[in-house]
Amino acid sequence: MRVTLSVIKADIGGYVGHSESHPEVIAKADECLARAKQEGLLIDYHVTKCGDDVQLIMTHQRGVDDERIHKMAWDTFIEGTDVAKKLGLYGAGQDLLSDAFSGNIKGMGPGCAEMEFEERPAEPVLIFMADKTSAGAWNLPLYKMFADPFNTIGLVIAANMHNGFTFEVHDVKEHKKIRFDAPEEIYDLLVFIGAPSRYMVKAVYHRDTRDIAAVSSTERLSLIAGKYVGKDDPVCIVRSQGNFPAVGEVLEPFTLPLLVEGWMRGSHHGPLMPVSIPDSTPTRFDGPPRVTAAGFQLKDGKLVGPRDMFADKSYDNARQQANDVADYMRRHGPFEPHRLPLEEMEYTTMPQVMEKLSGRFTDL
Ligand code: F6R
Ligand code: MG
Ligand code: MG
Repeated sequence: MRVTLSVIKADIGGYVGHSESHPEVIAKADECLARAKQEGLLIDYHVTKCGDDVQLIMTHQRGVDDERIHKMAWDTFIEGTDVAKKLGLYGAGQDLLSDAFSGNIKGMGPGCAEMEFEERPAEPVLIFMADKTSAGAWNLPLYKMFADPFNTIGLVIAANMHNGFTFEVHDVKEHKKIRFDAPEEIYDLLVFIGAPSRYMVKAVYHRDTRDIAAVSSTERLSLIAGKYVGKDDPVCIVRSQGNFPAVGEVLEPFTLPLLVEGWMRGSHHGPLMPVSIPDSTPTRFDGPPRVTAAGFQLKDGKLVGPRDMFADKSYDNARQQANDVADYMRRHGPFEPHRLPLEEMEYTTMPQVMEKLSGRFTDL
């Protein structure tokens, strides 16, 4: 059976500040998706949150980029925004950048990761959701999962993965894409994806079967809106087991609390902390950035789950390390590399300050 798995998310109001989603907003989204399921548009759904982002996890048979699915998700966010406004939540509707839906949710503010595939007899999928960071945050974990034998031993000793995976990389500034085959082209691949503010891994494919293995959301809100409107707070779907990395190989990269951009005012680097879904409450200096993982088994498109994968004790050391790194980074205050380089900051007072001081700059 061919199934489409769509994850569409948006920040439509924070509680308190930008630290969490409100249960009433999540309940409203649940109500909307229950209706869509009853009408037969969806096979199944699960609504959850990561920090201040509402996450719609949906299965259906309409393929990716389907107008009816996207419109239903958009309308869900509109209804959720009404609840957020009623409660006076912070930044109600902040990711909805347009007044009216125009065919596809991409480019309108919400983040979107979708894949269509033939469901295997047992189909484990992992859905990663992040808050206070941007889509490039998936580059390093996806590289480790699908190209690094020190992370994924299956690449070495499992015959069905030994030929490697293909990475599709998007240049979000020039709106171009390119594919690289791993392992042969990993040095070329790394030249690009090691610069995650511009080059992002959009998808990964199994090289022998061409089956889709992973897909991420790569919207960049700051580029879409032309001004600061929030972070991408991206999502990523990864298929697991069999021809794909095992669940433990998929989760292992997150034991490194990698440095990502997006902390406080979208203008700081900070460690990406793997947490349980209830613990995705970024409150320390509006962070540090969080990642959650919801695991499901799919059965005829039904979402059996979720299991809250990072609730496991074995991520305690990563969390401790993230807190230590957060302390260390914070001591840099307004200095780089804690603060982002000038051109990457979401907020800046540089033009005003420059203008005010323009007469005081003299030649060296
Ligand atoms: C939001 C975020 C926060 C805000 C900060 C200022 O995702 O990362 O750090 O940027 O709280 O928010 P505003 O400008 O809405 O007062
Ligand atoms: Mg917010
Ligand atoms: Mg957010």
